[in-house]
Formats: sequence, C-alpha cells, structure tokens
Amino acid sequence: MRTNYCGALRTENIDETVTLCGWVDRRRDHGGVIFIDLRDRDGIVQVVFDPDTKEHFEAADSVRTEYVLQITGKVRARDGAAINKDMLTGEIEILGKELVVLNKAETPPFPLDSHNSVGEDIRLKYRFMDLRRTEMQDKLRLRSRITKSIRNFLDDKGFLDIETPILTRETPEGARDYLVPSRTHEGKFFALPQSPQLFKQLLMVAGMDKYYQIARCFRDEDLRADRQPEFTQIDIEASFISEDEIMNVTEEMMRGLFKEVLDVEWPELPRMTYEEAVRRFGIDRPDLRNPLELVDIKDLLTDVDFKVFSGPANDPKGRIAAIKVPGGNAKLTRKQIDGYTKFVSIYGAKGLAYIKVNDKDKIEDGDDCGLQSPIVKFLPVEARREILSRVGAENGDLIFFGADKAKIVNESLAALRVKLGEDLDLLTCKWAPLWVVDFPMFEDDGKGGLTPLHHPFTTPSCSAEELKAAPEEALSVAYDMVLNGTELGGGSIRIHDQEMQKTVFEVLGIGEEEQQEKFGFLLDALKFGAPPHGGLAFGLDRIVMLMTGSASIRDVIAFPKTQSAGCVMTDAPGVVKTEHLSELNIRLKIKEKKPAAE
Ligand code: AMO
Ligand code: AMP
Repeated sequence: MRTNYCGALRTENIDETVTLCGWVDRRRDHGGVIFIDLRDRDGIVQVVFDPDTKEHFEAADSVRTEYVLQITGKVRARDGAAINKDMLTGEIEILGKELVVLNKAETPPFPLDSHNSVGEDIRLKYRFMDLRRTEMQDKLRLRSRITKSIRNFLDDKGFLDIETPILTRETPEGARDYLVPSRTHEGKFFALPQSPQLFKQLLMVAGMDKYYQIARCFRDEDLRADRQPEFTQIDIEASFISEDEIMNVTEEMMRGLFKEVLDVEWPELPRMTYEEAVRRFGIDRPDLRNPLELVDIKDLLTDVDFKVFSGPANDPKGRIAAIKVPGGNAKLTRKQIDGYTKFVSIYGAKGLAYIKVNDKDKIEDGDDCGLQSPIVKFLPVEARREILSRVGAENGDLIFFGADKAKIVNESLAALRVKLGEDLDLLTCKWAPLWVVDFPMFEDDGKGGLTPLHHPFTTPSCSAEELKAAPEEALSVAYDMVLNGTELGGGSIRIHDQEMQKTVFEVLGIGEEEQQEKFGFLLDALKFGAPPHGGLAFGLDRIVMLMTGSASIRDVIAFPKTQSAGCVMTDAPGVVKTEHLSELNIRLKIKEKKPAAE
C-alpha cells in the first residue's frame, strides 16, 4: 500500500513520487492551501494540497486528526524560510496528488501532544492511542533492539532458546503466586511461574548445557515504580560453569548491549560484597553515582548520656551511622532538615540528628563552639573529634546521624542518601554498574524463622554441616548486577547435590513430606547425575526503563497493569460466569458491600 515510511523521507527523495500511509497528526488551512502532518511509526512528514487537485483538495479539507490516510504525492524541497530544523523531515515536504481516507477517527480521548495533562488512567484505558505517541513508539522500538542484541549475543555464545511452562506449580521467589484453577483436576490449581528457575535447572540436568529465554514471570506482590505483576526476564543458565565465568559472560552481554544500543562504554564493573554494600550504603543495591557514604560510629557512643545513641550503641542489633554532606551547611536550611527528618520517618527512623560543622577546630563547649547541633552537648569532646575525623569533615559540611536497629538505620539512611543525591545534584556520572557478591544465604523472616535471601536452590559457600550449625552466618554463591541503584539482575551457582538441597529445605523448616510434595521432582532430578550449574536472570523491563530514562516501568511495557494490578483497557481481571466457576468447582464467597452512607 505504500512505498516509503513518512518519517524516513529526506532530501535524497526529492522528485520521487511516493505513496505514504499514516495518521493525521495535524491539519492546517493556510489561505487556501491545506497542510497535513502525516505520521507513521517512523515520524512525521508535511503534505501540502493545493486547490489545483480539486477532488483531493476537498478530501484533504475534510480530514480530521487521527484519520488514517493513504497519500500519493511528489517529494519537493521546502523553501528556505519553511525549513524546519527540528524535524528530521524538515527540509522536504510532499506535494499531495491523491488522498484516500482509509479510515475515519472520532475525536481522540486526549490530544496526543497533551498526554501529560491527562491522568495515567486515561492513557492506559486508551493505550492504543497513547502508544501512537512518538515517545512511546521510540521506547518500544528500543525494547525490541535490546532483545535483539541480547538474543544475538546469547545465540552466538551457544545458548539455546527453550520455552518453559506457564501453567506449572509454585516456584518460590518470595512473592505470592498467581493461581489458575484446573477443570480436569478437581480442587487443584496451577501456579503461574514467578520465574522459570526450576525448569532451567532441570534443563541443565537434561544436558542442554546452555539455556536462555526471554521469559514472562508472574508475581502477586506490592507494586512499585519498578515492579509489575507480569514482567519479563532474560533468563540464563549454564552447566559446568564457575561463578566468575557466568558473571563474565553476562557482563560482556550487558557491556555489548549498552555499546550497541546507546553507544555507552561501561567502566570495569567493581565487585562489592553484600557486607560492604550494606555497611557503606545501607543497601545491597547501591547507586555508586552518588558519593555519599554511611560511616559507623557506634563504638564511640556506648557511654554517652543520650538514650537515642546509647541505646543502639549497646544493642548488638543496633547501628549508629553518620552521613557527611559536603558543603551541606550552606545548602540545607532548617526547613529542609525538618523535611528530611519527616522523610526518614517513613522508614521508621525516630529522628534525624545533625551537626553543622562551622569550625572543625573549635569543638569544645562554649559560645565559640564551631559545631552547631541539638545533640552536640551530649557528645564527649573525644567522640566529637573522632566523628569529624572518621567522616573527614571540613568546615561548612553537615553531618546527619541515624541511630536505631540496624535495619531501620540502613533503610532510612539509604533512602536519605538517594534523596540528598537527587536534591543536591550530587551524581558524579551517568552510569555506575557493579556486582554485589557474597550474599547471606538467609535472612530473618520476622517470625522467628529464616527465609532465603535469593531462593532455596542457591549453593551455600560452606559445607552442609556448617550450614546446619550456623545458618544465619552462611554466605551463598550468589551475585546481583546493580546499575544506578536498581537491581538489574541476580543469580547464583545452584545446588546440584541432593543432600545439600535437603539440608537447605530443613534449615528453612520445610519437612520431608512437604519437600517431596512440592519439590519431589527436583530432588529426583538431583539423584540422576545433575551437573554443576548456575545462571542468572535480568529484569528486561528494568533494563529498558534505565536505558530509556523512564520514571515508570509502565512506560516501557506495551500493555502494563496499573498500581492495583489491573488493566483498565480490557477491564481485567473480570467477572466470570457462575457456570464457568461451577465447572471449576469454585463457589465465590464475597462479602456483601455495605450500602454507602446516606
Ligand atoms: P529475581 O527474583 O532476583 O531472581 O529476579 C531477577 C530480576 O527480575 C527483575 N524483577 C522484576 N521486574 C519487574 N517487576 C517485578 N515484579 C520483578 N521482580 C523481579 C529484577 C530482578 O533482578 N530465578 C531467579 C534468577 C536466578 O537465580 O537465575 C530470579 O527470578 O530485575
Ligand atoms: P530528641 O531528644 O528526641 O528531641 O532528639 C534530639 C535530636 O536527635 C533531634 O535532632 C532528633 O531528630 C534526633 N534523633 C532522635 N531520635 C533519633 C534517632 N533514632 N536517630 C537519629 N537521630 C535521632
């Protein structure tokens, strides 16, 4: 139906007769001449109809925004004054000869160029319109280039693209499962995969050696700006591979991807232990573009006469850390400090002590004390001196303090660090990738038990005996790739020994019966010659988000779910007919909604 894309036309095409298909972006009537900006996936081109071609001129006059047209015309150069440097096609235009209306369109629910002033709900309800916007088209096009680059790389390295089931049973990745009732197995349910984890391990047992899949994963969890209930992983697994080898090959893949798609060179990826990341940044996915760091000062404060500090200082689970903001004294007003105090309270912090360093050489009490702070009076001079020295304070700096259980201090100061970085424009570079390694095997589940930090198929760095003796101290052979404070991907070397797998289940409180019921197939497979293997999975949506500079994961998914995990366009999830439910042996027990108060 067409000879060229609208957006692809350039001065080289001058004098060619072309047929274009696309949407009316804008129609203007300029003193008897009709201008139509015709838009397709590649961009916009200006078409001019003059009254010489009467029939087509009248047709051009009748079209409205978003009508679908087929236009034939001749490419010509624009006059000097009419050249539009902001448009890729701005040096040419089409002199329209024929116009066919392929389809009409009602007035769009929102003008495409004013998407910012309509709510996201409207954009998502009419997603097919929202996706017509160049910005969205560019994002989806980049997403396609990303998967192509990754497929090419992995294909070249000998990885096989193998699909794994969507209707399956639970794969524990720490979220709630989406369940699908079975009609043929009364009272039973499939679970949608939280990841293809167990299947990719079974493919290794099956001798496939190197596997990848651009795999859809489903997790019923609380949504955030970088989480969707249905998302895509670049899922990778290989046999007979060491931790270093798998990290190197996936690092090479990501390095190549950034070079190919964005022409960005990645620096050498530092490897940081989990312990160091949490100690220096309060979090296991530090944004290394941000120069602020947490500095421990707990040991200096065990004897101070200030409960806020002496409590955590004497609590084995307590932490007291300081963050120095260079030049913060002048940059941060009292009002802003109060704002940050409120901000950290979201993370459970009961306050945010601070010291303004006016003169670091005058730290004694007195009218000319160079430290300005509500808490300095509680600190012995020796502690003041040591704090200033540890954080490397200079005159004009401001030091914030967090004191509480380590978890609260870590979470609140990690968030404060990010916020200060944004507010004070502290980021030192555009891209800061790193590997975080040596994760603990388990963490406290908050109910007196343990839960895996990654998943229960991760190899511990110690023997089964050591694991049983002190599970909370065990480290794992797991690694995460972090970029600009986002966890892009993570993986591990897996357990290939049945006894070790059973030990991990035991430590997690999964008894023999439950092990057989839930993971019997895996334990079986581990008996029949499972090779050593490992892998990892990247979050594709997050990669696209970062590479396109999008603030929301929804902007890089064609048809995303809303914050409440629904689709406003299709109105999913939907109501199901009672007969259909009966076939599935399901009867709904829904509380009657109370009538609204008069
Ligand atoms: P993990 O649970 O860390 O590991 O997931 C891997 C990556 O997937 C992305 N991701 C998400 N992206 C969008 N929305 C979500 N709800 C979401 N959840 C996770 C993240 C994350 O780093 N089977 C293991 C991998 C392995 O061990 O090989 C797994 O799923 O970018
Ligand atoms: P208060 O004695 O509670 O008035 O607190 C004195 C100062 O310590 C104030 O600046 C508080 O913001 C700060 N503060 C209180 N609790 C904490 C805490 N857990 N961590 C850090 N600073 C705190």
